[in-house]
Amino acid sequence: MQLIYDTLTGNTRRFAHKVADLTGLEAVALKEASPQEPYLLLTYTFGSGAVPDTTRAFLQVHAPLMRGVVSSGSFHWGENFGRAGEVIAGAYGVPFVMRVNKSGNLSDARAVAEWVRAQ
Ligand SMILES: Cc1cc2nc3c(=O)[nH]c(=O)nc-3n(C[C@H](O)[C@H](O)[C@H](O)COP(=O)(O)O)c2cc1C
Repeated sequence: MQLIYDTLTGNTRRFAHKVADLTGLEAVALKEASPQEPYLLLTYTFGSGAVPDTTRAFLQVHAPLMRGVVSSGSFHWGENFGRAGEVIAGAYGVPFVMRVNKSGNLSDARAVAEWVRAQ
């Protein structure tokens, strides 16, 4: 399993690296990724609960190896908080592992690491 993250301002990258530190998995930037093995996607939420275009384009090619999704967002977006994860999970039939506020905290990273270990 790999961790593949999309990011605009760095929060999702920071969270992916927290999970990488706990699991020993490699965290790879989506723009550089060409997955050959199953991966956990970490992305962020844009617009009003939307999936970033970069993530959308990536999934058009690489969705078959995705095993789950984590989304970053911001609490103050209310019902759209981290909604990109729900959208992706629904569209591709993978588990929505967690939504995190900004770059998440240690407890978030531990929960995602547990999920990874259980795969
Ligand atoms: C224009 C704009 C729209 C956003 N829309 C949402 C949203 O609908 N829901 C949400 O939870 N967060 C939203 N956010 C917050 C980002 O998802 C959040 O800051 C995230 O951590 C950014 O990840 P990144 O630093 O990896 O790019 C928005 C941020 C911006 C700048």
